[in-house]
Amino acid sequence: MRIWQSWDRRRRVVGGIMALILMWGATQGFAWLISPSEQALTAEGRELFAHEWTPDDPLSGGGDGLGPVFNANSCVACHSSGALGGAGQNQHNVTAFNVLPNRNDSSMYGGVVHANATSKELLESREQVQRLYPIIPGGVKVVGNCQVRFEDFNPVEFEEINTPALFGVGLIEEISDWTIRRNAWGQSFSALGKEFQGDFDATMGKVRILPGGRIGKFGWKAQFATVEEFVATACAVEVGLSNSYRQQDRPGEFKSDEEAEYDMTSHQLDSLTTFCLTLERPEFVPPIDPTGLRVVLRGNQVFSEIGCAECHTPDLGGVTGLYTDLCLHSLSDPDHNGYVRETEVPLPFGVPELDEWKTPPLWGVADSAPYMHDGSAPTLEAAIQAHGGDARHIRKRYQEDINQQDREALLAFLKALRAPSPSEVAAQADEK
Ligand code: HEC
Ligand code: HEC
Repeated sequence: MRIWQSWDRRRRVVGGIMALILMWGATQGFAWLISPSEQALTAEGRELFAHEWTPDDPLSGGGDGLGPVFNANSCVACHSSGALGGAGQNQHNVTAFNVLPNRNDSSMYGGVVHANATSKELLESREQVQRLYPIIPGGVKVVGNCQVRFEDFNPVEFEEINTPALFGVGLIEEISDWTIRRNAWGQSFSALGKEFQGDFDATMGKVRILPGGRIGKFGWKAQFATVEEFVATACAVEVGLSNSYRQQDRPGEFKSDEEAEYDMTSHQLDSLTTFCLTLERPEFVPPIDPTGLRVVLRGNQVFSEIGCAECHTPDLGGVTGLYTDLCLHSLSDPDHNGYVRETEVPLPFGVPELDEWKTPPLWGVADSAPYMHDGSAPTLEAAIQAHGGDARHIRKRYQEDINQQDREALLAFLKALRAPSPSEVAAQADEK
């Protein structure tokens, strides 16, 4: 055949075949590179993720199984959209609360009002939290030589938290602290540059530094550094499964029950974590028809041009198509009624402000509605319109500086950011 006539061509053909094999390998998730013991762990973890726990569950050894207070009886009850491990609908939102520092107590507390309990008398309510941390009456107090007037202050702040998807968390875990810091410094430098030119609408994210110096990457507040810690906490808080990292909560007291027997072995925790870490990453799935493809590619351009990419960093630490800086930002408008409450005394050092949230990764966003930390935006358009605060100048560009065609292209681009297809996830499971 003529194709073999030159050495150069032969090399190109062989190279092409090798590239094809590698690409095929990548679509198979390189499952054959995972050692058999890890495959067994993942399979076991998958079962635990879907397992519907009951009180005194046989899987929980000497522990009391589900509850006594819990939000749902399985991980998949909330993490289900698109495929196992996906995002969750608003009916599964978690009700969390903060007790703000105040003139009587400078510490901050947090907890969860569980939606369910193993028996009716144990059901928790917001009123219980309010009774534990009552409104502090106003009045006149002498501070130093001055008389200071205080208003009534309610220290309790409730929040609805929507369930994010877990696809690709293993890749996020591998992003180094240094990469996140360096990217945030980059934002600050370019912000400084813009300020010199009189443009004060610049983007600067806040890296969340956890006690001990590690950087938080997981959770809407970037409150955890590793998937393992999040998984162990989810077991205890969402399902009521005590483990060596975090005990289940004591009903109505909103703190962990130090005396409860463990419901999980470290092996079970390990397999559940391994399962989460090996969940496939989301995919970029552009339309095949040339017109649709052109629109999506234009949308990708608009995304960068108007500044979405300043916070939703497309690639971070070698993870491509992630679209987050993993930093905290405030998107609340100053006129956003009652959303951000003045605190009486500053929050403890290192704790994010009430209206600061981590930029969520946008990979898979087409399949993870509803949006924003509280699930308040039913559509992608509504999510963009909810960008005030640090992103208000970018929202203004979206609303006023680009035409309808570009707005539609931007939305089409976001709609091409898909969860891993259920068939692939199923195929991955079958192999195990
Ligand atoms: C009641 C619903 C619910 C259940 C049940 C639930 N989760 Fe979640 N999950 C959430 C919510 C809400 C968040 C976000 C919490 C936050 O950021 O404060 C979350 C976040 C996570 C995260 C962090 C994801 C990220 O990228 O930030 C992991 C990991 C996780 N869950 C694993 C699990 C596991 C494992 C289970 C089962 C033991 C579980 N979840 C059960 C609602 C749930
Ligand atoms: C200043 C940083 C910043 C900029 C600029 C920014 N975002 Fe965001 N984005 C965030 C943060 C922070 C959140 C989460 C806020 C919350 O939950 O309250 C978010 C949430 C979202 C969500 C919801 C995702 C989910 O999983 O719930 C979408 C969609 C989104 N942004 C798209 C965009 C687009 C499109 C642009 C450009 C028009 C943009 N963002 C610009 C920081 C930013």
